Amino acid sequence: MEIRTEHLFIREMRLDDLDALMEMASYPEMHTYEHHSMSTEIQVRNYLEGAISWAGEQPRTRYRMAITIPPSDRMRGRVGLTLNWEEILEWEIGWHLHYQDWGKGVVTEAARALLCFAFRELKAHRVVAYCNVHNERSVRVMQRLGMQQDGRLRQTRWWNGRWVDEFVYAILEEDFFQAST
Ligand SMILES: CC(C)(COP(=O)(O)OP(=O)(O)OC[C@H]1O[C@@H](n2cnc3c(N)ncnc32)[C@H](O)[C@@H]1OP(=O)(O)O)[C@@H](O)C(=O)NCCC(=O)NCCS
Repeated sequence: MEIRTEHLFIREMRLDDLDALMEMASYPEMHTYEHHSMSTEIQVRNYLEGAISWAGEQPRTRYRMAITIPPSDRMRGRVGLTLNWEEILEWEIGWHLHYQDWGKGVVTEAARALLCFAFRELKAHRVVAYCNVHNERSVRVMQRLGMQQDGRLRQTRWWNGRWVDEFVYAILEEDFFQAST
């Protein structure tokens, strides 16, 4: 799968993305609100091998995509879609962006393209996203995408030595198609 948008090229991950992922993970700002699951080369390699093998699944239920900013082919961020709940066609979206590219609208553009793919190609009924309630940047991405807060899960995350709440945001196919007409 690949998607070209106005400023970005979203492609499948490759083993040679290891370097770029390691570099992204080296910024502490990337882990302020999220569990740091890529601190060693082995963890990053396992992550990439998972992403590559999922790309071959039939039917496919997980997409871990690299965001690049042409003309460079180097990964600057990642967006993913996972089938959460097959019976109601619910997919979950997630995003990470290189710290040096924050504040330019990159993830909003990439995630919008992935939502379009989810609703048009995967026939999703709803797409949800979860985040630590303190992650204001991520909340603003959800809101810019037209997602609405579905709820606040109490103390579902262990963060900085304490329990914190998590937001769940969602966008329905009808919201998405209404906004795009
Ligand atoms: C969450 C995260 C991806 C958000 O990154 P971001 O750069 O704020 O989001 P975008 O790339 O969509 O950029 C939006 C920002 O660029 C600004 N911007 C500039 N030009 C823009 C444009 N053309 N279109 C949209 N936004 C634009 C927006 O105003 C916004 O800034 P604001 O929120 O201060 O108003 C990033 O903080 C991150 O990777 N965090 C670490 C990992 C993480 O927490 N992931 C989420 C797990 S739930």
